[in-house]
Amino acid sequence: MNQAENVIEVEGLTKVFNHSLTAVDHIDFSVKHGEIFGFLGPNGAGKTTTISMLITVLKPTSGTATILGGDIAKQSLDVRNAIGVVPQEYTADEDLTGYENILLCADLYGIPRSISKKRALDLLQLVELTAFKDKRVQTYSGGMRRRLELACGLINRPKVLFLDEPTLGLDVQTRAATWNYVKMLKKQFGMTLFLTTHYLEEADALCDRIAIIDHGKIVVIGTPSALKDSLGGDIITLSIQKDADITDIISEIEHVKEVKKENASYIIKSSNGELTAPLIIEALRKNGYVVTKLSLTKPTLNEVYLQYTGKSMRDAEESRENVFKQRAAVRRARQ
Ligand SMILES: Nc1ncnc2c1ncn2[C@@H]1O[C@H](COP(=O)(O)OP(=O)(O)O)[C@@H](O)[C@H]1O
Ligand SMILES: [Mg+2]
Repeated sequence: MNQAENVIEVEGLTKVFNHSLTAVDHIDFSVKHGEIFGFLGPNGAGKTTTISMLITVLKPTSGTATILGGDIAKQSLDVRNAIGVVPQEYTADEDLTGYENILLCADLYGIPRSISKKRALDLLQLVELTAFKDKRVQTYSGGMRRRLELACGLINRPKVLFLDEPTLGLDVQTRAATWNYVKMLKKQFGMTLFLTTHYLEEADALCDRIAIIDHGKIVVIGTPSALKDSLGGDIITLSIQKDADITDIISEIEHVKEVKKENASYIIKSSNGELTAPLIIEALRKNGYVVTKLSLTKPTLNEVYLQYTGKSMRDAEESRENVFKQRAAVRRARQ
């Protein structure tokens, strides 16, 4: 496979389940070499389905995608060998040790034990599990399990790593540690990373580019800062004592891009909130108005997300419960 600049290229990729449910609807995007690409969207938006098609475990209904130049449908074996996967659902075998689990992952890739034993030890060290390598996974904490799965995903030395909700259900510290591993993989190995998450601040800090998917369609793609800028700048919310129309006064102030009156408040968009806010207070004072409330909000990915999907990330939280349910089911099935 050739080393194209775009490591992943997706065109019109579509998945229809049972001839009726369009889970992924003609999506187009590309991921550049060495990029951390974040795929964000509410529960049921089509993130896992997209990943499943890209990693060749699910056949697209239509459309195409290539990974490192290899077609996911026609060269699926090449694609599989070039990629690593850390799936959303929990896959490690609880009754085996961490070391044994990694060897099992290596077996699935047909890597001979003579090679995989050494690699497994290196990977355990990379994810800081060496001290626990001979402990059964059932004794591992949530963070340790996630690290073990990361190690499994790296066993074939992939050039592209797919991570589906890598930090779902983890505490803040463990989430931060996971993101540090992701950054390290990019920096140290020049790996390309494709990940889904619903932690928007983390996606903001970590991802080079982000695509937001909703109802199977990509609604926006860009760098985190471009996405935030696309909202039109900072938002100033203002109330005055009198019931008067001050739209004209505010519109003339520097950097103000839009003024809207909503009930008793004014919602003002400004390309530079810190500069605009004092100017507004000054202009209103000169005209005899008293400001009773003023707040300045810098757009975050939360606002971007809300703007493009009409939802906050709150509804995605329920999927965390699903993970725990899944884990409990796996445990029950083994007993
Ligand atoms: N194997 C399947 N059979 C039928 N419907 C499915 C299947 N997998 C996913 N879906 C449906 O496709 C939609 C997208 O699901 P999914 O890709 O898992 O979303 P996300 O990962 O963004 O939460 C959902 O409506 C889901 O119920
Ligand atoms: Mg999913």
